[in-house]
Amino acid sequence: MNDQSPIDPKVSIAAHTADARTVEEGLAIQERQAVLDSESATAVAMQDTLLTPRFYTTDFDELDAIDVTPVRDDWDALIAEMEADPNRGHFRKTADWDHVDWAGMDPELKKEFIDFLISSCTAEFSGCVLYKEMKRRGNNRDITQLFQLMARDEARHAGFINDALREVGVAVNLGFLTQKKKYTYFRPKFIYYATYLSEKIGYARYITIFRHLEANPDRRFHPIFKWFEEWCNDEFRHGEAFALLMKTDPKLTAGVNEWWIKFFLTAVYSTMYVRDHQRPAFHAALGVDTDWYGQEVFRKTSELSKQIFPFTLDIDHPRWMKGLKQLQRASADMDRAQKRGGIGGFFGRVWAGTRATWAFARLYTIPAVRHSVPATTRLEPVY
Ligand SMILES: [Fe+2]
Ligand SMILES: [Fe+2]
Repeated sequence: MNDQSPIDPKVSIAAHTADARTVEEGLAIQERQAVLDSESATAVAMQDTLLTPRFYTTDFDELDAIDVTPVRDDWDALIAEMEADPNRGHFRKTADWDHVDWAGMDPELKKEFIDFLISSCTAEFSGCVLYKEMKRRGNNRDITQLFQLMARDEARHAGFINDALREVGVAVNLGFLTQKKKYTYFRPKFIYYATYLSEKIGYARYITIFRHLEANPDRRFHPIFKWFEEWCNDEFRHGEAFALLMKTDPKLTAGVNEWWIKFFLTAVYSTMYVRDHQRPAFHAALGVDTDWYGQEVFRKTSELSKQIFPFTLDIDHPRWMKGLKQLQRASADMDRAQKRGGIGGFFGRVWAGTRATWAFARLYTIPAVRHSVPATTRLEPVY
């Protein structure tokens, strides 16, 4: 055991993050494993760019003041589902965990896949840290209960990805990240929009890959994808919780806030598109066309977001795919200019930044598709 471990030896804790009943337990287990964690992976997770997962903080008192009375029935049903904890014990290696031939893996694929795992682990942990902090600071029983349950899930998810990374000798030091990574402040309403969308798009991404690999098992080059179905159901429930939180206050999805919602939709979709295009070998190995995958995930996410948002982005508009491609090229040029450095690199960055801003503005101004929002919010994961 790590000497620095804050674990109280008198408290018996589960041996694996999959069995952790609370976020504290999940994190304590990972703290014990931290001796094995590698510097390079943590350094990657520490990066803060427009495209990498960030850590967030917010006005916890405002969040704590939410009254869920208007959605009480749906709320209680959702909390009961999460308390029943259908995924306890799921996120661990079992006999289904096939041997991974890391040594025989194509080096480009290995690099991109490890990057995918590190970035996913950071994103899971970002949710965990935010939810845990809300639970710690709050006094509102409904809110603290929900955030405790969501933090519990995210700690397990991050722990499981770290299990996969450890096989190849890398792992992200989550304790170090908590202390050292920069936190971005978002007002609570921006947290709702951003987090709701990242939970729902997370669901759509995982279920799309899972179904694709169900149909094409020969493409499953790593066992972790077998866990994606139950995994995405956790994310689905987290998204439901944020939809209910937004439903408590109609102002959150009306008036000027519609412009913010459109901004977050455009930003979340286009970030995913650009980021996925940075991993061509990974998608080729899965047998997935990145443009098809993007559109498929956007379509599912848009369909789900009709539960709470009064419009969806027009992803079939002729300017949509064109704009995404422009943004992606500008982002790739930005990377190259950054690596080049010097005066040429500087002007390269300015030029690429201008093109990226222009492409984003073109995407943002595509007229949205309006529809009416249902009276009740709850949905089931049907994909
Ligand atoms: Fe998660
Ligand atoms: Fe989640």
